[in-house]
Amino acid sequence: MTSNRLAVVVLAAGMGTRMKSGQPKVLHQVAGKPLLRWVLEAAEELDPERIVVVVGPGMESAVAAAKPHAAVIQEDRLGTAHAVQQALPLLIDDQGSRGEGDILVLYGDTPFISPKTLKAMLELHRAPKGGTLVALGFEPTDATGYGRLQLDDQGALLQVCEQAEIDADPDKAALGEIRLCNAGVVLADGPALFDLLAGIDNDNAKGEFYLTDIYALARQRSQRTAVQVASEEEVMGINDRCELAEAERIAQQHLRRRAMRAGATLIGAETIFLCDDTQLGRDSVIHPHVVFGPGVIVGERCEIKSFSHLEGCRLAANAVIGPFARLRPGTELGEGARIGNFVEVKNARLGAGAKANHLTYLGDATVGEEANIGAGTITCNYDGFGKHRTEIGARAFIGSNSALVAPVKVGADAIVGAGSTIVEDVPDQSLAVTRGAQRKIEDGAKRFRERRSKKE
Ligand code: UD1
Ligand code: MG
Repeated sequence: MTSNRLAVVVLAAGMGTRMKSGQPKVLHQVAGKPLLRWVLEAAEELDPERIVVVVGPGMESAVAAAKPHAAVIQEDRLGTAHAVQQALPLLIDDQGSRGEGDILVLYGDTPFISPKTLKAMLELHRAPKGGTLVALGFEPTDATGYGRLQLDDQGALLQVCEQAEIDADPDKAALGEIRLCNAGVVLADGPALFDLLAGIDNDNAKGEFYLTDIYALARQRSQRTAVQVASEEEVMGINDRCELAEAERIAQQHLRRRAMRAGATLIGAETIFLCDDTQLGRDSVIHPHVVFGPGVIVGERCEIKSFSHLEGCRLAANAVIGPFARLRPGTELGEGARIGNFVEVKNARLGAGAKANHLTYLGDATVGEEANIGAGTITCNYDGFGKHRTEIGARAFIGSNSALVAPVKVGADAIVGAGSTIVEDVPDQSLAVTRGAQRKIEDGAKRFRERRSKKE
Protein backbone atom coordinates (compact mmCIF):
# COMPACT_ATOMS: atom_id res chain seq x y z
CA MET A 1 0.00 0.00 0.00
CA THR A 2 1.36 3.42 -0.85
CA SER A 3 1.07 6.32 1.57
CA ASN A 4 2.06 9.92 1.02
CA ARG A 5 5.18 9.67 3.16
CA LEU A 6 8.44 10.14 1.33
CA ALA A 7 12.14 9.72 2.10
CA VAL A 8 14.97 10.54 -0.31
CA VAL A 9 18.35 8.83 -0.62
CA VAL A 10 21.08 10.64 -2.58
CA LEU A 11 24.00 8.50 -3.75
CA ALA A 12 27.27 10.40 -3.62
CA ALA A 13 29.91 7.91 -2.49
CA GLY A 14 31.88 8.00 -5.72
CA MET A 15 35.08 10.07 -5.50
CA GLY A 16 34.74 10.86 -9.18
CA THR A 17 38.19 9.69 -10.31
CA ARG A 18 37.74 11.26 -13.73
CA MET A 19 37.46 14.72 -12.19
CA LYS A 20 41.16 14.34 -11.17
CA SER A 21 40.39 16.34 -8.07
CA GLY A 22 41.29 16.47 -4.41
CA GLN A 23 37.71 17.15 -3.48
CA PRO A 24 34.65 14.92 -3.82
CA LYS A 25 32.96 15.19 -7.19
CA VAL A 26 29.63 16.36 -5.77
CA LEU A 27 31.26 19.48 -4.32
CA HIS A 28 32.32 20.83 -7.69
CA GLN A 29 30.13 23.78 -8.57
CA VAL A 30 27.75 24.73 -11.33
CA ALA A 31 26.59 28.36 -11.32
CA GLY A 32 28.16 28.90 -7.92
CA LYS A 33 26.41 25.95 -6.27
CA PRO A 34 27.83 22.48 -5.50
CA LEU A 35 26.36 19.64 -7.59
CA LEU A 36 25.05 18.03 -4.41
CA ARG A 37 23.07 21.16 -3.47
CA TRP A 38 21.35 21.23 -6.86
CA VAL A 39 20.10 17.71 -6.23
CA LEU A 40 19.18 18.39 -2.60
CA GLU A 41 17.19 21.49 -3.55
CA ALA A 42 15.24 19.53 -6.16
CA ALA A 43 14.52 16.87 -3.53
CA GLU A 44 13.50 19.48 -0.94
CA GLU A 45 10.80 20.72 -3.33
CA LEU A 46 9.00 17.40 -2.78
CA ASP A 47 8.87 18.13 0.93
CA PRO A 48 10.12 14.68 2.04
CA GLU A 49 10.23 13.67 5.69
CA ARG A 50 13.87 12.80 5.45
CA ILE A 51 16.83 13.11 3.08
CA VAL A 52 19.88 10.90 3.56
CA VAL A 53 23.09 11.38 1.57
CA VAL A 54 25.40 8.40 1.09
CA VAL A 55 29.05 9.51 0.99
CA GLY A 56 32.38 7.70 0.79
CA PRO A 57 34.99 7.43 3.54
CA GLY A 58 36.98 10.64 4.18
CA MET A 59 34.37 12.83 2.51
CA GLU A 60 33.76 15.11 5.53
CA SER A 61 33.31 18.10 3.23
CA ALA A 62 30.41 16.32 1.52
CA VAL A 63 28.88 15.50 4.90
CA ALA A 64 29.05 19.21 5.74
CA ALA A 65 27.53 20.18 2.37
CA ALA A 66 24.65 17.76 2.96
CA LYS A 67 23.54 19.58 6.12
CA PRO A 68 20.94 19.94 7.54
CA HIS A 69 20.28 16.52 6.03
CA ALA A 70 21.83 13.36 7.39
CA ALA A 71 24.75 11.57 5.77
CA VAL A 72 25.91 7.95 6.05
CA ILE A 73 29.28 6.61 5.03
CA GLN A 74 29.52 3.70 2.63
CA GLU A 75 32.85 2.24 3.76
CA ASP A 76 33.31 -0.07 0.75
CA ARG A 77 31.99 0.90 -2.62
CA LEU A 78 30.23 -2.33 -3.50
CA GLY A 79 27.67 -0.93 -5.94
CA THR A 80 24.56 1.21 -6.12
CA ALA A 81 22.30 -1.32 -4.37
CA HIS A 82 24.79 -1.61 -1.51
CA ALA A 83 24.94 2.19 -1.33
CA VAL A 84 21.16 2.48 -0.92
CA GLN A 85 21.25 -0.21 1.76
CA GLN A 86 23.61 1.93 3.85
CA ALA A 87 20.89 4.56 4.11
CA LEU A 88 18.08 2.20 5.09
CA PRO A 89 18.80 2.12 8.86
CA LEU A 90 18.18 5.86 8.90
CA LEU A 91 14.84 5.35 7.19
CA ILE A 92 13.52 3.03 9.85
CA ASP A 93 11.31 5.15 12.04
CA ASP A 94 10.97 4.96 15.81
CA GLN A 95 8.22 2.37 15.62
CA GLY A 96 10.65 0.10 13.80
CA SER A 97 8.60 0.20 10.63
CA ARG A 98 10.72 -0.53 7.58
CA GLY A 99 10.69 2.66 5.61
CA GLU A 100 6.92 2.95 5.63
CA GLY A 101 6.06 5.20 2.70
CA ASP A 102 7.97 5.84 -0.53
CA ILE A 103 11.69 6.01 -1.12
CA LEU A 104 13.23 8.07 -3.90
CA VAL A 105 16.83 7.38 -4.91
CA LEU A 106 18.77 10.16 -6.65
CA TYR A 107 22.39 10.53 -7.79
CA GLY A 108 24.44 13.39 -6.36
CA ASP A 109 26.15 14.11 -9.68
CA THR A 110 22.99 14.80 -11.71
CA PRO A 111 22.37 18.49 -11.01
CA PHE A 112 19.50 19.28 -13.38
CA ILE A 113 16.97 16.73 -12.24
CA SER A 114 13.78 18.76 -11.90
CA PRO A 115 11.11 18.70 -9.20
CA LYS A 116 8.58 18.54 -12.03
CA THR A 117 9.91 15.21 -13.28
CA LEU A 118 10.20 13.85 -9.75
CA LYS A 119 6.60 14.85 -9.08
CA ALA A 120 5.53 13.09 -12.29
CA MET A 121 7.29 9.95 -11.01
CA LEU A 122 5.41 10.27 -7.72
CA GLU A 123 2.11 10.55 -9.59
CA LEU A 124 2.90 7.49 -11.69
CA HIS A 125 3.82 5.59 -8.55
CA ARG A 126 0.78 6.65 -6.54
CA ALA A 127 -1.79 6.20 -9.33
CA PRO A 128 -4.25 3.34 -8.69
CA LYS A 129 -2.54 1.13 -11.26
CA GLY A 130 0.89 2.69 -10.72
CA GLY A 131 4.19 0.92 -10.28
CA THR A 132 5.57 -0.39 -7.04
CA LEU A 133 8.84 0.62 -8.67
CA VAL A 134 9.21 3.56 -11.06
CA ALA A 135 12.43 4.07 -13.03
CA LEU A 136 13.45 7.24 -14.83
CA GLY A 137 14.39 6.71 -18.46
CA PHE A 138 15.84 8.89 -21.22
CA GLU A 139 17.07 8.50 -24.76
CA PRO A 140 20.68 9.66 -24.95
CA THR A 141 22.39 10.54 -28.23
CA ASP A 142 24.91 7.83 -27.36
CA ALA A 143 23.62 5.01 -25.15
CA THR A 144 27.03 3.45 -24.51
CA GLY A 145 27.71 2.99 -20.82
CA TYR A 146 24.13 3.27 -19.63
CA GLY A 147 21.85 0.56 -18.35
CA ARG A 148 19.20 -0.29 -21.02
CA LEU A 149 15.53 -0.40 -20.11
CA GLN A 150 13.74 -3.42 -21.54
CA LEU A 151 9.97 -2.89 -21.58
CA ASP A 152 7.08 -5.25 -22.22
CA ASP A 153 4.37 -4.27 -24.69
CA GLN A 154 2.36 -2.58 -21.92
CA GLY A 155 5.30 -0.25 -21.22
CA ALA A 156 6.16 -1.94 -17.92
CA LEU A 157 9.85 -2.43 -17.15
CA LEU A 158 11.04 -6.04 -17.47
CA GLN A 159 14.67 -5.45 -16.55
CA VAL A 160 17.61 -3.08 -16.71
CA CYS A 161 20.64 -4.48 -18.46
CA GLU A 162 23.95 -2.85 -17.57
CA GLN A 163 26.54 -2.10 -20.26
CA ALA A 164 29.05 -4.42 -18.57
CA GLU A 165 26.61 -7.32 -18.88
CA ILE A 166 25.93 -6.58 -22.55
CA ASP A 167 29.68 -6.50 -23.21
CA ALA A 168 30.29 -9.72 -21.31
CA ASP A 169 27.51 -11.86 -22.81
CA PRO A 170 26.91 -12.26 -26.59
CA ASP A 171 23.34 -13.39 -25.85
CA LYS A 172 22.64 -9.90 -24.53
CA ALA A 173 23.99 -8.06 -27.57
CA ALA A 174 20.45 -7.35 -28.82
CA LEU A 175 19.69 -5.44 -25.61
CA GLY A 176 22.53 -3.12 -26.59
CA GLU A 177 20.31 -1.87 -29.42
CA ILE A 178 17.73 -0.48 -26.99
CA ARG A 179 17.74 3.32 -26.98
CA LEU A 180 15.81 3.90 -23.78
CA CYS A 181 18.34 4.11 -20.96
CA ASN A 182 18.32 4.22 -17.19
CA ALA A 183 18.90 7.65 -15.66
CA GLY A 184 19.39 6.03 -12.27
CA VAL A 185 16.53 7.65 -10.37
CA VAL A 186 14.30 5.12 -8.61
CA LEU A 187 11.00 5.66 -6.85
CA ALA A 188 9.88 2.69 -4.80
CA ASP A 189 7.46 1.54 -2.21
CA GLY A 190 9.63 1.52 0.95
CA PRO A 191 8.99 -1.95 2.42
CA ALA A 192 9.16 -3.50 -1.08
CA LEU A 193 12.54 -1.83 -1.66
CA PHE A 194 13.87 -3.18 1.66
CA ASP A 195 12.96 -6.71 0.58
CA LEU A 196 14.18 -6.38 -3.00
CA LEU A 197 17.58 -5.04 -1.94
CA ALA A 198 18.01 -7.97 0.42
CA GLY A 199 17.52 -10.28 -2.54
CA ILE A 200 20.22 -8.80 -4.80
CA ASP A 201 23.56 -10.52 -5.36
CA ASN A 202 26.80 -9.45 -7.02
CA ASP A 203 27.06 -12.32 -9.46
CA ASN A 204 27.75 -10.14 -12.52
CA ALA A 205 30.54 -8.82 -14.75
CA LYS A 206 31.56 -6.09 -12.31
CA GLY A 207 31.04 -8.06 -9.10
CA GLU A 208 28.88 -5.17 -7.84
CA PHE A 209 25.48 -5.09 -6.18
CA TYR A 210 23.47 -3.38 -8.92
CA LEU A 211 20.50 -1.32 -7.80
CA THR A 212 19.11 -1.89 -11.26
CA ASP A 213 18.58 -5.59 -10.50
CA ILE A 214 15.56 -4.67 -8.35
CA TYR A 215 13.34 -4.39 -11.43
CA ALA A 216 13.77 -7.94 -12.73
CA LEU A 217 13.43 -9.22 -9.17
CA ALA A 218 10.23 -7.23 -8.67
CA ARG A 219 8.79 -8.80 -11.84
CA GLN A 220 9.57 -12.28 -10.52
CA ARG A 221 7.60 -11.32 -7.43
CA SER A 222 4.69 -10.01 -9.55
CA GLN A 223 5.22 -6.42 -8.47
CA ARG A 224 4.41 -3.63 -10.89
CA THR A 225 7.12 -1.56 -12.60
CA ALA A 226 6.82 1.58 -14.70
CA VAL A 227 9.03 4.12 -16.46
CA GLN A 228 8.86 7.91 -16.49
CA VAL A 229 10.80 9.56 -19.33
CA ALA A 230 12.96 12.71 -19.03
CA SER A 231 15.14 14.70 -21.42
CA GLU A 232 18.82 13.88 -21.80
CA GLU A 233 19.82 17.34 -20.57
CA GLU A 234 17.87 16.94 -17.37
CA VAL A 235 19.56 13.72 -16.33
CA MET A 236 23.07 14.48 -17.54
CA GLY A 237 25.64 13.20 -15.06
CA ILE A 238 28.90 15.01 -14.37
CA ASN A 239 31.94 12.76 -14.56
CA ASP A 240 34.79 14.97 -15.71
CA ARG A 241 35.70 18.65 -16.07
CA CYS A 242 34.45 18.77 -19.66
CA GLU A 243 30.99 17.65 -18.58
CA LEU A 244 31.19 20.13 -15.72
CA ALA A 245 31.86 22.91 -18.23
CA GLU A 246 28.98 21.73 -20.39
CA ALA A 247 26.67 21.77 -17.34
CA GLU A 248 27.85 25.31 -16.56
CA ARG A 249 27.01 26.37 -20.12
CA ILE A 250 23.52 24.91 -19.85
CA ALA A 251 22.93 26.42 -16.39
CA GLN A 252 24.07 29.88 -17.52
CA GLN A 253 21.74 29.75 -20.49
CA HIS A 254 18.81 28.98 -18.17
CA LEU A 255 19.76 31.61 -15.61
CA ARG A 256 20.15 34.34 -18.24
CA ARG A 257 16.76 33.54 -19.69
CA ARG A 258 15.21 33.51 -16.24
CA ALA A 259 16.72 36.94 -15.44
CA MET A 260 15.56 38.43 -18.76
CA ARG A 261 12.07 36.99 -18.39
CA ALA A 262 11.91 38.60 -14.94
CA GLY A 263 12.54 42.01 -16.52
CA ALA A 264 16.30 42.64 -16.52
CA THR A 265 18.15 43.64 -19.69
CA LEU A 266 21.28 41.61 -20.36
CA ILE A 267 23.40 43.16 -23.08
CA GLY A 268 25.56 40.50 -24.68
CA ALA A 269 23.83 37.99 -22.42
CA GLU A 270 26.23 35.20 -23.36
CA THR A 271 29.12 37.11 -21.73
CA ILE A 272 27.32 37.63 -18.41
CA PHE A 273 27.75 34.98 -15.72
CA LEU A 274 25.16 34.50 -13.00
CA CYS A 275 24.78 32.37 -9.91
CA ASP A 276 21.72 30.33 -9.22
CA ASP A 277 20.75 32.79 -6.45
CA THR A 278 21.39 36.02 -8.38
CA GLN A 279 18.39 38.37 -8.20
CA LEU A 280 18.12 41.19 -10.74
CA GLY A 281 15.39 43.81 -10.31
CA ARG A 282 13.10 44.94 -13.12
CA ASP A 283 14.56 47.35 -15.65
CA SER A 284 18.08 46.83 -14.39
CA VAL A 285 20.60 46.83 -17.23
CA ILE A 286 23.65 44.58 -17.15
CA HIS A 287 26.35 45.39 -19.68
CA PRO A 288 28.62 42.76 -21.27
CA HIS A 289 31.21 40.84 -19.26
CA VAL A 290 29.80 41.18 -15.79
CA VAL A 291 30.29 38.31 -13.34
CA PHE A 292 27.94 37.63 -10.42
CA GLY A 293 29.24 35.46 -7.59
CA PRO A 294 26.93 34.03 -4.93
CA GLY A 295 24.53 36.15 -2.89
CA VAL A 296 23.86 39.17 -5.10
CA ILE A 297 20.57 41.07 -4.96
CA VAL A 298 20.16 43.94 -7.40
CA GLY A 299 17.21 46.32 -7.05
CA GLU A 300 15.16 47.91 -9.82
CA ARG A 301 16.60 50.20 -12.51
CA CYS A 302 20.23 49.60 -11.54
CA GLU A 303 22.95 49.76 -14.15
CA ILE A 304 25.98 47.49 -13.97
CA LYS A 305 28.61 48.39 -16.51
CA SER A 306 31.11 46.09 -18.14
CA PHE A 307 33.84 44.08 -16.41
CA SER A 308 32.40 44.39 -12.93
CA HIS A 309 32.54 41.54 -10.41
CA LEU A 310 29.92 41.31 -7.66
CA GLU A 311 29.46 38.85 -4.81
CA GLY A 312 27.57 38.86 -1.52
CA CYS A 313 26.11 42.32 -2.02
CA ARG A 314 22.82 44.16 -2.15
CA LEU A 315 22.04 47.13 -4.37
CA ALA A 316 19.03 49.37 -3.80
CA ALA A 317 17.15 50.83 -6.78
CA ASN A 318 18.94 53.06 -9.31
CA ALA A 319 22.47 52.21 -8.19
CA VAL A 320 25.12 52.52 -10.91
CA ILE A 321 28.19 50.28 -10.86
CA GLY A 322 31.36 50.11 -12.95
CA PRO A 323 32.82 49.70 -15.42
CA PHE A 324 35.54 47.67 -13.68
CA ALA A 325 33.99 47.75 -10.21
CA ARG A 326 34.45 45.08 -7.59
CA LEU A 327 31.79 44.58 -4.94
CA ARG A 328 32.79 42.06 -2.30
CA PRO A 329 30.71 40.37 0.42
CA GLY A 330 28.96 42.66 2.86
CA THR A 331 28.54 45.55 0.44
CA GLU A 332 25.22 47.38 0.65
CA LEU A 333 24.46 50.27 -1.64
CA GLY A 334 21.67 52.74 -0.98
CA GLU A 335 19.32 54.06 -3.61
CA GLY A 336 21.10 55.76 -6.48
CA ALA A 337 24.60 55.17 -5.04
CA ARG A 338 27.45 55.10 -7.56
CA ILE A 339 30.56 52.96 -7.61
CA GLY A 340 32.87 53.75 -10.50
CA ASN A 341 35.90 52.27 -12.21
CA PHE A 342 38.58 50.48 -10.21
CA VAL A 343 36.69 50.85 -6.97
CA GLU A 344 36.66 47.93 -4.54
CA VAL A 345 34.06 47.78 -1.77
CA LYS A 346 33.99 45.19 1.01
CA ASN A 347 31.77 44.93 4.09
CA ALA A 348 30.67 48.51 3.64
CA ARG A 349 27.34 50.31 3.56
CA LEU A 350 26.87 53.36 1.37
CA GLY A 351 23.86 55.58 1.91
CA ALA A 352 21.51 56.81 -0.79
CA GLY A 353 23.21 58.93 -3.41
CA ALA A 354 26.73 58.35 -2.05
CA LYS A 355 29.46 58.27 -4.70
CA ALA A 356 32.89 56.65 -5.02
CA ASN A 357 33.62 57.07 -8.67
CA HIS A 358 37.30 56.34 -9.18
CA LEU A 359 40.23 54.24 -7.91
CA THR A 360 39.13 53.68 -4.34
CA TYR A 361 39.08 51.03 -1.62
CA LEU A 362 36.23 51.12 0.89
CA GLY A 363 36.54 48.26 3.39
CA ASP A 364 34.74 47.88 6.74
CA ALA A 365 33.15 51.28 6.31
CA THR A 366 29.90 53.18 6.60
CA VAL A 367 29.36 56.05 4.19
CA GLY A 368 26.48 58.44 4.79
CA GLU A 369 24.03 59.51 2.13
CA GLU A 370 25.19 61.93 -0.58
CA ALA A 371 28.80 61.66 0.61
CA ASN A 372 31.41 62.09 -2.10
CA ILE A 373 34.51 59.90 -1.95
CA GLY A 374 37.26 61.37 -4.11
CA ALA A 375 39.51 59.47 -6.49
CA GLY A 376 42.15 57.39 -4.80
CA THR A 377 40.61 57.34 -1.32
CA ILE A 378 41.70 54.39 0.78
CA THR A 379 40.15 53.22 4.02
CA CYS A 380 43.15 51.71 5.83
CA ASN A 381 41.14 49.04 7.63
CA TYR A 382 43.88 46.57 8.45
CA ASP A 383 46.85 47.22 10.72
CA GLY A 384 48.41 43.81 10.27
CA PHE A 385 46.53 42.42 13.28
CA GLY A 386 42.87 43.35 13.14
CA LYS A 387 40.25 45.02 10.98
CA HIS A 388 38.87 48.43 11.98
CA ARG A 389 35.95 50.53 10.81
CA THR A 390 35.78 53.86 9.08
CA GLU A 391 32.64 55.95 9.45
CA ILE A 392 31.95 58.76 7.02
CA GLY A 393 28.96 61.01 7.69
CA ALA A 394 26.24 62.19 5.35
CA ARG A 395 27.31 64.71 2.68
CA ALA A 396 30.97 64.51 3.74
CA PHE A 397 33.50 65.25 1.02
CA ILE A 398 36.71 63.24 0.97
CA GLY A 399 39.36 64.86 -1.23
CA SER A 400 41.32 62.75 -3.69
CA ASN A 401 44.20 60.58 -2.59
CA SER A 402 43.27 60.52 1.07
CA ALA A 403 44.08 57.73 3.49
CA LEU A 404 41.56 57.23 6.30
CA VAL A 405 43.34 55.22 8.99
CA ALA A 406 40.72 53.17 10.86
CA PRO A 407 39.28 53.23 13.40
CA VAL A 408 38.31 56.76 12.43
CA LYS A 409 35.21 58.91 11.92
CA VAL A 410 34.62 61.75 9.51
CA GLY A 411 31.53 63.70 10.56
CA ALA A 412 28.52 64.79 8.55
CA ASP A 413 29.17 67.67 6.11
CA ALA A 414 32.90 67.54 6.91
CA ILE A 415 35.59 68.03 4.27
CA VAL A 416 38.92 66.22 4.05
CA GLY A 417 41.47 68.04 1.91
CA ALA A 418 43.05 66.12 -0.94
CA GLY A 419 46.14 64.14 -0.08
CA SER A 420 45.40 63.92 3.64
CA THR A 421 46.19 61.07 5.97
CA ILE A 422 43.43 61.12 8.57
CA VAL A 423 44.23 59.42 11.87
CA GLU A 424 41.96 61.41 14.19
CA ASP A 425 38.19 61.88 14.05
CA VAL A 426 36.98 64.85 12.02
CA PRO A 427 33.92 66.53 13.64
CA ASP A 428 30.74 67.44 11.71
CA GLN A 429 31.04 70.51 9.47
CA SER A 430 34.84 70.82 9.98
CA LEU A 431 37.65 70.68 7.46
CA ALA A 432 40.73 68.54 7.98
CA VAL A 433 43.85 68.74 5.91
CA THR A 434 47.13 67.08 6.80
CA ARG A 435 49.43 67.59 3.84
CA GLY A 436 52.64 69.65 4.21
CA ALA A 437 52.53 73.34 3.24
CA GLN A 438 53.46 74.03 -0.37
CA ARG A 439 56.75 75.82 -1.14
CA LYS A 440 57.00 78.11 -4.11
CA ILE A 441 60.48 78.59 -5.65
CA GLU A 442 60.50 81.47 -8.11
CA ASP A 443 62.07 80.37 -11.48
CA GLY A 444 63.02 77.08 -9.80
CA ALA A 445 61.92 74.97 -12.72
CA LYS A 446 63.85 77.07 -15.19
CA ARG A 447 67.07 76.86 -13.12
CA PHE A 448 66.64 73.10 -12.68
CA ARG A 449 66.47 72.59 -16.44
CA GLU A 450 69.51 74.73 -17.06
CA ARG A 451 71.56 72.75 -14.52
CA ARG A 452 70.54 69.45 -16.14
CA SER A 453 71.33 70.51 -19.70
CA LYS A 454 74.81 71.76 -18.70
CA LYS A 455 75.64 68.34 -17.19
CA GLU A 456 74.77 66.62 -20.50
C1 UD1 B 1 24.40 3.66 -13.10
C2 UD1 B 1 23.28 2.64 -13.37
C3 UD1 B 1 22.96 2.64 -14.86
C4 UD1 B 1 22.58 4.01 -15.33
C5 UD1 B 1 23.66 5.02 -14.95
C6 UD1 B 1 23.17 6.43 -15.23
C7 UD1 B 1 23.61 0.87 -11.72
C8 UD1 B 1 24.11 -0.52 -11.49
N1 UD1 B 1 23.75 1.33 -12.96
O1 UD1 B 1 25.57 3.18 -13.75
O2 UD1 B 1 21.90 1.74 -15.13
O3 UD1 B 1 22.35 4.02 -16.72
O4 UD1 B 1 23.99 4.94 -13.57
O5 UD1 B 1 24.21 7.34 -15.05
O6 UD1 B 1 23.08 1.46 -10.80
N2 UD1 B 1 27.57 5.10 -6.02
C9 UD1 B 1 27.70 4.99 -4.66
N3 UD1 B 1 28.21 3.83 -4.16
C10 UD1 B 1 28.56 2.78 -4.94
C11 UD1 B 1 28.42 2.92 -6.35
C12 UD1 B 1 27.92 4.11 -6.86
O7 UD1 B 1 27.37 5.89 -3.91
O8 UD1 B 1 29.00 1.76 -4.40
C13 UD1 B 1 27.01 6.36 -6.56
C14 UD1 B 1 27.99 7.12 -7.43
O9 UD1 B 1 28.69 8.09 -6.67
C15 UD1 B 1 27.05 7.80 -8.42
C16 UD1 B 1 25.90 6.82 -8.54
O10 UD1 B 1 25.94 6.02 -7.39
O11 UD1 B 1 26.55 9.01 -7.94
C17 UD1 B 1 25.97 5.96 -9.80
O12 UD1 B 1 27.15 5.18 -9.77
P1 UD1 B 1 28.03 4.93 -11.07
O13 UD1 B 1 29.20 4.09 -10.70
O14 UD1 B 1 28.27 6.19 -11.79
O15 UD1 B 1 27.04 4.01 -11.92
P2 UD1 B 1 27.04 3.79 -13.49
O16 UD1 B 1 27.99 2.70 -13.83
O17 UD1 B 1 27.18 5.07 -14.19
MG1 MG C 1 27.81 7.05 -13.67
